[in-house]
Amino acid sequence: MSITVSFSKTLSTKAKALVLPLTVETLEKSITEIERALSLFVVYALAQNPSFKAENGDILTLTPPENTGFAKIFLLGLGKTKDFNVLKAEKAAGKLTPFLTKSGHKSITLMVSAEQNIGDVKSHILAAHLANGIRLRAYNFDRYKSKKDDKDKGPKFEKLSIIHPHDANAKAAYEILANVTDGVFMARDLVNMPPNDLYPDSYAKLIRDQLKPLGIDVEILDEKKMQKLKMGAILAVGKGSEHQPRMVIMRWNGAKGKKSSAAKPLGFVGKGVTFDTGGISIKPGAGMDEMKMDMGGSACVVGLMKTLAIRKANIDVVGVVGLAENMPSAGAYRPGDILTSYSGKTIEVLNTDAEGRLVLADCLTYIQEKFDPRFIVDLATLTGAMMVALGHEYCGTFANDDKLWVQMEAASKASGEKLWRMPLDEVWTKEVESEVADIQNLGKSRYGGACTAAAFLGHFIDKDRLWAHMDIAGTAWRKSDQPTVPKFGSGFGVSVLNELISKNYE
Ligand code: BES
Ligand code: ZN
Ligand code: ZN
Repeated sequence: MSITVSFSKTLSTKAKALVLPLTVETLEKSITEIERALSLFVVYALAQNPSFKAENGDILTLTPPENTGFAKIFLLGLGKTKDFNVLKAEKAAGKLTPFLTKSGHKSITLMVSAEQNIGDVKSHILAAHLANGIRLRAYNFDRYKSKKDDKDKGPKFEKLSIIHPHDANAKAAYEILANVTDGVFMARDLVNMPPNDLYPDSYAKLIRDQLKPLGIDVEILDEKKMQKLKMGAILAVGKGSEHQPRMVIMRWNGAKGKKSSAAKPLGFVGKGVTFDTGGISIKPGAGMDEMKMDMGGSACVVGLMKTLAIRKANIDVVGVVGLAENMPSAGAYRPGDILTSYSGKTIEVLNTDAEGRLVLADCLTYIQEKFDPRFIVDLATLTGAMMVALGHEYCGTFANDDKLWVQMEAASKASGEKLWRMPLDEVWTKEVESEVADIQNLGKSRYGGACTAAAFLGHFIDKDRLWAHMDIAGTAWRKSDQPTVPKFGSGFGVSVLNELISKNYE
C-alpha cells in the first residue's frame, strides 16, 4: 500500500489534520508576522512549547480547540535556511510520517504558502519534496498480511493533499520525483518478496509482465538457451536448486535521433540471487532469512528501467539481470569445480558462497558482446566485507574511469544515495588468478574481500570499457527505519543512477 498525493490551491473545509512546515527563522520573526502566517492558536501553542525550535525534523503535534475546525496540527521543523536543501526537506517529512500514520487520520493536508521560499529552494519545489519524503517513508509492504486493517488503530493514512497557491507547478515538480519513487517502490517490493514466491522463473515472468506494458523490450534466457550459449558460470550457481536460472534482458529505447557514440546504449547489470544459502559452503543459520535480499542489485536495475520508461527518458538503456538460487543439494556445484564461463575463461570454485561474481561474470560478458554499451554499472549485494568496511550508509563503488566516477559522485550528492569510491588494483587482479584455472572465485587472503570481488569482475570487463561496480551489500537492506527508508528492502541505487543518466546522458 502506498499513499496517494493530490494538489490544490486552497484548503478544503473538510481538512481535519494539517501539517505546517516551518524554518528556524520563521520562529525568530516578530509575533505579528507569525500571526499573519499562522493561526492565533498556533502562536499560542508555540509560546507554550519553547523547546520546539523548528530544527530539521523537529515535530510538534498539537490538538487545537474545536472552533479551529482541525483535530490535529503537526508543526514540522525544516531547520535553518543556510543549511537547507531539498534532501533536508525530504528527510524532515520522512521523520514526520510515522506520526501521520499513527494519527488515525485517513487524509492529511500539508500547506505551503507561495512566500515559503527557503534560500534557493522555491516554495513549490519545497512542497513537492515534502510530499515525496512522506510518500517514500509511508511505503509499507503488507501484501502478505491476511488482515489489512487494524481496526483498533482507526483509519489508515492514505491520502496526502498538498495546498500551494501554484498547485500546478508544485504538482509538475512532484511528478518528476514520483517517477523515481515508483521505481524505488518496485525495487523495494522485489527485495521484500519471499523467496518461495520470487525465484528465477517467477521473477523473470514478473519483470516481463510489469515492464513490457511500459514499452520496455524484455527477453528471457531460460536454462536451455543458456546451456546452448555455454554460460557455465551462472548455470553452475543454479545447479543445486529446483528452480533453474534465468537471464533477463531489458531494453528501453528512448533516444530520439542521437548519433555516433551517443547511439550506444548505457548498460546496467544486476545480481539476482533470489536466495543465497551459500550452497555447499553453507552459511550459518542465524539471519539466513535475510539472504532473500541477495537479488537487490537486480531489483535496482528493474526499478531503474521502470523509472526510465515512465518518465520517457531520452536515452537507450539496456539492463541485464542474472537470476539464480544458490542451494546445497546432490546436484549442487562444489568447491573444487572448474567452470567454463560464457567468456571462455575458466573459473576454479573455492567457495560456493562466492556465487554472485559467477552470476555477474556471464551477464557482464553478454551485455558487452551483444550491446557494446557506452559504460556498464553493475550492482550487487556481493560481499559481507563491504558491510564490514562501510556499514549501511555508504555504498562502496569501484570505477575504472575518473570521469565516470565524477559523474557518479555528483549524482550521489544530488540524490542523497551515498557512494564512496573504492580502489581497483593490479595486485587484486593477480590475487584472483588460479593455479589450475584462469581465475578463482576467492582472494588468496581473507582481507580486502570487497576489493578482490571487484577485481574478479574486472576479469570480465573488456579493455577500455568504462565500468563501475556498486557493492550494495550494506545499503540494499536496512534493519531499522531511516527518515525516507522504512526498514527492509531500501530500493537503493534507483535514484542515484536515474540522476546519473538524466544529468549526463539525455
Ligand atoms: N550474498 C553474499 C554477500 C552478502 C553478505 C550480502 C551479507 C549481504 C549481506 C555473498 O554471496 C557472499 O556470501 N559472499 C561471501 C564471499 C566470500 C565467500 C568470499 C562473503 O561475503 O562472506
Ligand atoms: Zn554467497
Ligand atoms: Zn550472494
